[in-house]
Amino acid sequence: MKKVSDIRPTLTDSQVLDFCKKGYLVLPAVVPEDINRRVVEYTNEIVLERPSLKIPRRSKEVEFHLPLLEEEWFVEHVLLNDEAAGAVRSLLGKEFTLPILISDHRAETPMPKQGGWHRDGNYVHNKKLNYVEVFYHPEDVPVEKGPTEVLPGSHHLASAPVGHYGGLKGGVRFAPPDAPAGSILIMSYNLWHRRTLSTASGFRHLFRYNYWRTTMPVRDWIIEPDFDLRTASYEFFDRPTTRPPTRDCNDAAEMFFWLSGMHDQFAVMGGQCWPSPHIGLEGEVQGFPGDITDERVRG
Ligand SMILES: [Fe+2]
Repeated sequence: MKKVSDIRPTLTDSQVLDFCKKGYLVLPAVVPEDINRRVVEYTNEIVLERPSLKIPRRSKEVEFHLPLLEEEWFVEHVLLNDEAAGAVRSLLGKEFTLPILISDHRAETPMPKQGGWHRDGNYVHNKKLNYVEVFYHPEDVPVEKGPTEVLPGSHHLASAPVGHYGGLKGGVRFAPPDAPAGSILIMSYNLWHRRTLSTASGFRHLFRYNYWRTTMPVRDWIIEPDFDLRTASYEFFDRPTTRPPTRDCNDAAEMFFWLSGMHDQFAVMGGQCWPSPHIGLEGEVQGFPGDITDERVRG
């Protein structure tokens, strides 16, 4: 039986930094098709046999808490899936903990009204990454079935989302062709997301669970020989938020430093300085934390 200690990190410096900028990553079709089918069959059978697994909700979307942690095949191929768990290992360090609760957010479609933008309950807003939220689709969820939409970069926003906001420019749907059946979405718990409206008849499954960190952060993912903290691009192009770009840049850099176990060294001087993309004609960088000394600041 595969264990957490068997999992090796799969993300590189650039991919971890990309997660810091966007607040999520998608692993397309990483769960094999036979496991996807087994998940759906198992779920459909058990919810009929044990109606007590159903958690009441007000909408047509219902939530089932499923005993999938007892199923070795699910733990091995979904929770400890090499790609998914490798990404979790990269972000949360060794000895991360497995989920304690697996829920299927099952919607009977069509649902002509979309869900409101939100963060899930009990979020803690800071630059740390002590836990991640995971969504898994065992079946295709095309736009007609109301896939989840996320707002890249929104994990850094201090404000809470407003539920009645409609379409937000830059929203990304967790849907084919980028996310077919068997895809896994790993995201900051603080990322704004919502269920989109659906027009097709049927059911939409969305499995949701969390992993947690148990060790102090350290840069022990896949180190890129050429990756340089001083000149790395912390800038998030195509960013949908309306904050000044340097705010996103600073937040992504601070999160990367925290994940690297270097948060105590993080500092931003201001102006045309690191980590904003203001680089001199000769490649000079101003204000990199390692360059700041008492002597220099005192002049
Ligand atoms: Fe949610």
